Amino acid sequence: MINVIKLNKISDKVLDILKDNYKVEENIANPEAALVRSFSMHEWEVPASLLCVARAGAGVNNIPFDAYREKGIVVFNTPGANANAVKELVIASMLLAARNLVGAIKWANALTGDDVAKQVEKGKGQFVGTEIMGKTLGVLGLGAIGRKVALTALALGMKVIGFDPFLSDAAKAELKDVTIYSDMKDVIKESDFISLHMPYTKENKELINASLISEMKDGVIIINAARGELVNVSDIKAAINSGKVRSYVVDFPDANCINSDGIIAIPHLGASTEEAEDNCAIMAAEEIKEFIETGNIYNSVNFPTVKAEKRSAHRATVFANASFNSPQIVAKADSKGIVYAILESDTAFDKSALEAMDGVIRARVIY
Ligand code: MLT
Repeated sequence: MINVIKLNKISDKVLDILKDNYKVEENIANPEAALVRSFSMHEWEVPASLLCVARAGAGVNNIPFDAYREKGIVVFNTPGANANAVKELVIASMLLAARNLVGAIKWANALTGDDVAKQVEKGKGQFVGTEIMGKTLGVLGLGAIGRKVALTALALGMKVIGFDPFLSDAAKAELKDVTIYSDMKDVIKESDFISLHMPYTKENKELINASLISEMKDGVIIINAARGELVNVSDIKAAINSGKVRSYVVDFPDANCINSDGIIAIPHLGASTEEAEDNCAIMAAEEIKEFIETGNIYNSVNFPTVKAEKRSAHRATVFANASFNSPQIVAKADSKGIVYAILESDTAFDKSALEAMDGVIRARVIY
């Protein structure tokens, strides 16, 4: 039996994939796999039994995946599985901000008396908004979500520009009507709306700060459905007060964002749709199943893709340092000095013998 611990609430769709030989529970001892959404694993005591973690979502800043690599624990995410849900929230965010809908709805709900209809007509002038058609959207980060946002914004009549230093040729081809700049500042300077879609790393902490904001257009609307840490909220507030920034829509609000004029705080709902939760759960469960049953790795954030078709009766895998070698290797990749190798043989593997081999950190007999 393979034990899978659920560190967050995850759609029951995982049970369609992880059935028969799997036990999936919130409190389970000696888990071989963990399913996680936003639970912070940085403080979590890692069980010695843990082989892999699947994040039902894209962002992995809640997982110490570099440290896990050293221990021979593979971390997966589910790229693209919730991209449509996040995209829809970003489009809604642009409209909420451009039409001042949050303030307007709050105002309307506070009206009293029998003449509400009259008051509505009299007071609505204070909420005149702007349209998004014809405006320029700058997309920072053109991964699965950023690309969907860009293409939908084009369909809504916006001009779309973007920046992503890691853009593949295939992604570029998909974005043929989007102007891609090689300098992020060019996007910053030209955009009426800026939408953030990069992962949060220690290098881009508070990327959006007073200095960058000073280069933006007056009245810019900033949408952050990526991670709160990408933005210096105090600088945003100062820029809202000065009129430089018209609105900041954030799906990762902290105490500084709540009830603050010009800030629309959404409680991390980007991926919170039934469809996205099911999609992420299914993809995460498939990644775990494939890794447990074949040793194959794909969609990992701390190892490259390593896959091999079954050619022999027996298979084992090892994590090892760079010196590891064996004539039984059928697939192998290196990630930051840690080698992951799939070995095959016509005779059965012995786990202890594998572990005793030069440079081996961890070994597993698959079948
Ligand atoms: C993501 O990184 O994909 C989202 O934060 C997922 C989630 O809401 O759990």
